[in-house]
Amino acid sequence: MFFKKEIEGIFFGIKIVCSTLILLTILTLCIYKGFLQFNFTALPIHDSPVIKDEYDVAFLDDSPKSKWVKYGFELFQNTSNYIGPSVEQLDKVFSGNNLACGNCHLLAGTKPFAASLVGVVNRFPQYRGREHKLGTIQERINGCMERSMNGRMMAIDSDEMIALVSYLKWIGRNASKEGKVFGQGFMEINLPNRAVNLENGMAVYKAQCVLCHGSKGEGIKKSKTNSYKYPPLWGTDSYNNGAGMSRVITAAQFIKGNMPYGVTYESPMLSDGDAYDVSGYINQQKRPIKVNLELDFPDLKRKPVSTPYPPYVDTFSISEHQLGPFQPIIAYYKQKFNLTKKK
Ligand code: HEC
Ligand code: HEC
Repeated sequence: MFFKKEIEGIFFGIKIVCSTLILLTILTLCIYKGFLQFNFTALPIHDSPVIKDEYDVAFLDDSPKSKWVKYGFELFQNTSNYIGPSVEQLDKVFSGNNLACGNCHLLAGTKPFAASLVGVVNRFPQYRGREHKLGTIQERINGCMERSMNGRMMAIDSDEMIALVSYLKWIGRNASKEGKVFGQGFMEINLPNRAVNLENGMAVYKAQCVLCHGSKGEGIKKSKTNSYKYPPLWGTDSYNNGAGMSRVITAAQFIKGNMPYGVTYESPMLSDGDAYDVSGYINQQKRPIKVNLELDFPDLKRKPVSTPYPPYVDTFSISEHQLGPFQPIIAYYKQKFNLTKKK
């Protein structure tokens, strides 16, 4: 009898402790969620006057041509809903992750220094070092499809390719013939003359990024869809190691001018050193591996210095190509091949 009471007592205790723990977890989750929303400096496309006047597809009519542009815009912004890994019609599955083009090409490809795609169609065909040949706009889009989206190529005459090109043509309709526009590419930064400091990178990540991108870089999905409110920065649903963003210099430049979300090239928040370190930290984490990367850059001299995968035509280690310091590598190419490397 005595034992039974004792055991009942213990169970009662366990129940109390468990309920308290559950309550506490719910409370913490609520606060965390509210905090996220509160902190979110949303910059929806309609907030920008330039975008509203020039690049808002809502102003378009219902002609067949406009419909292609509108579908292209949709695809660009909500890529995974149409061609992502969870789409049921298998021949429509092109991207291997649930990112959207607009997650990196911000404001639907129109934000200066976020790899703006305004005028991009006029900039092609273009010599591409990665393939060592003249490439078309469709091939360039497929480049991002196979790497940034970790997916597979779309046929040139597929609805999706036609729509994306229509949209990109449309946002470039006022660009010059050569397609040169203000804000192409990314902001330049002064590269610190040292290797990435991973410890500082982690500290910057925890202070400035974790709130939206998550402690495992996993991001946060929009409710009821597979696309992201805050996209992942590493892990299985991120860009693969062959993507431009997996190069430390490219990612640092993107981050400097665009992150934490809401900053612009005119109002960056991170120092160049912090952008460099956090970029190194992100790109040291696990992400999908692309096959056949050794076939990239048939002329190896053309390989950007922070390309994270071998082979190289120099004597620097993989680690130095991933984490710097880059000045010695840049100096090497200048001296040996008279090539001025910026990335
Ligand atoms: C993970 C980030 C990321 C995603 C997602 C992404 N891109 Fe890109 N894209 C880049 C980067 C970085 C560059 C510049 C690469 C470089 O400097 O070599 C680029 C370059 C391009 C270019 C060439 C730009 C120029 O000025 O020459 C095109 C076109 C393009 N992307 C289209 C797309 C499309 C379409 C999608 C969606 C299917 C997409 N990208 C998804 C990161 C991304
Ligand atoms: C307030 C939320 C927020 C914070 C804080 C934030 N980001 Fe982002 N980040 C976003 C959003 C939203 C996008 C996608 C933008 C879009 O789709 O318009 C994004 C996109 C990115 C991308 C490109 C897409 C991808 O998934 O690879 C990178 C890289 C990135 N952020 C890095 C960072 C880094 C590094 C920090 C900290 C210095 C940071 N972000 C802080 C919200 C945030």
